[in-house]
Amino acid sequence: MKNILVTGGAGFIGGNLVRFLLATEPEVTVVNLDKLTYSGNLANLEGVLDHPRHFFVRGDIGDRDLVRRLLRERKFEGVLNLAAESHVDRSISNAEVFVRTNVLGTQVLLAAALEAGVGRFLQVSTDEVYGSLGPEGRFREDTPLHPNSPYSASKAGADHLVQAWHHTYGLDTVITRCSNNYGPWQFPEKMIPLMINNARRDQPLPVYGDGLNVRDWIHVLDHCRGLWTVFCEGGAGEVYNIGGHSERTNLEVVRVILKILGKPESLITMVRDRPGHDRRYAIDTGKIERELGWRPRYDFEKGLVDTVDWYREHQDWLDQVVSGDYRRYYQEMYENR
Ligand code: NAD
Ligand code: DAU
Repeated sequence: MKNILVTGGAGFIGGNLVRFLLATEPEVTVVNLDKLTYSGNLANLEGVLDHPRHFFVRGDIGDRDLVRRLLRERKFEGVLNLAAESHVDRSISNAEVFVRTNVLGTQVLLAAALEAGVGRFLQVSTDEVYGSLGPEGRFREDTPLHPNSPYSASKAGADHLVQAWHHTYGLDTVITRCSNNYGPWQFPEKMIPLMINNARRDQPLPVYGDGLNVRDWIHVLDHCRGLWTVFCEGGAGEVYNIGGHSERTNLEVVRVILKILGKPESLITMVRDRPGHDRRYAIDTGKIERELGWRPRYDFEKGLVDTVDWYREHQDWLDQVVSGDYRRYYQEMYENR
C-alpha cells in the first residue's frame, strides 16, 4: 500500500486529484490535509469523503506540530502539495496570507517531509511563475522566473525553496508548472465558472481590459494525470511544464460559453483591467511529452461543453460553496470596476 499525503485536497484540483487517485490507483491510500478556507469545501469530495482509502484531516500546512505529527504517523511514499491561496485578484487586495500559506506553508511541509523520510515531494506550481509573454514564444522549464503578481511571486518563492531542499538536503523533489485549469468543482471566482454562472442567470460577464489576454486552457483531469505521471516517473530535482495546447483569448472563451448556453453576446461587459495583468501564457510541453509520454487528451471545446453541463447539473453544489463572504467579495470586486 502506498501512503500519499495530498494537501489542498478539498479544493478544485486537489479534490479532482483525490478522486482520480482513488479511482485509478488501488494501491494508494490518500491522507488529505486541508484547512477548508473559502475555496476548500467538503462538498468537493462528495462520494469519496468516506472512501476506505481516504482520510481527511482539517488543518493548516503551516502548522508545524500538526504536519510533523501527521508525517510521523505512517510511512509516506509521497507528499503532493496543492494547498495554496490560488486567486490572483485576491492576492492583489491582500498578499499576506499568500506569503503565509504558499511560501511559509511550503517550507514547513518540506522540513517535515525531510525529517520524516518521505519518499518524494511534488510541488504543484504554475506557469505564472514565468511571467508574461508577448505574441510569440512559449514557456520552457529553463525560462527564467519573472513573477508579476503577489500570487505568482509567492508560488515562485515556494519553487525556489523546493529546489533548495533538493540541492541542500537531498530531498527527492519534483515541480510541475501547469497552465489554467477548467472543469468540475472549480470555485466560481475563477473566470470559466464565473462566466458560466453569470450567463446562466443573465448577469453581466465582466471581461477585464480589452479581453485579448491569452491563457492556455487544460482540463483538470489532464492535469491530475500529469501530476501522477510526474510523481511516479519524473526525475529527482526536475521541473515539468504541463499545458493543454489550447491558447484562447478571454473574449474567445466567453463567446463560446455564451454560444453553448444560447445566451446573447450583449451580456459581455468590458470592465477595468486587473492591475499588472499578464498578457499571454503559453506552455512548451515538449519535456513531459518526450520524457514521460504524457499528452493532454481533452479537446477544449468539448471539455467546455461538458463543464457547462456539469455546472447546470450541480446548482446545489454551487449554492453550498458560495457563502455570504463570497457574495460580499464579488460585490466589492466588481462594483469598483
Ligand atoms: P483552490 O483555491 O481551489 O484550492 C486550494 C485548497 O487549498 C483549498 O481546499 C484550501 O482550503 C486549501 N488551503 C488553502 N490554504 C491552506 C493552508 N494554509 N493549509 C491547508 N490547506 C489550505 O485552488 P486550485 O485551483 O485547486 O489550485 C491548487 C494548486 O494548483 C495551487 O497550488 C495552485 O497554485 C496550483 N495551480 C492551479 C491552477 C489553476 O488553474 N487553478 C493552475 C496551475 C497550478
Ligand atoms: O495559469 C495558471 C493560473 O491560472 C493558476 O496558477 C491560478 O491559480 C489560477 O487562478 C489561474 O490564474 P488566472 O489569473 O489566469 O485565472 P483567472 O480565472 O482569475 O483569470 C483567467 C483570465 O480571465 C485572466 O486573463 C483574467 C481574466 N478574467 C478573470 C476574471 C475572474 C476576466 O476577464 N474576468 C474575470 O471576472
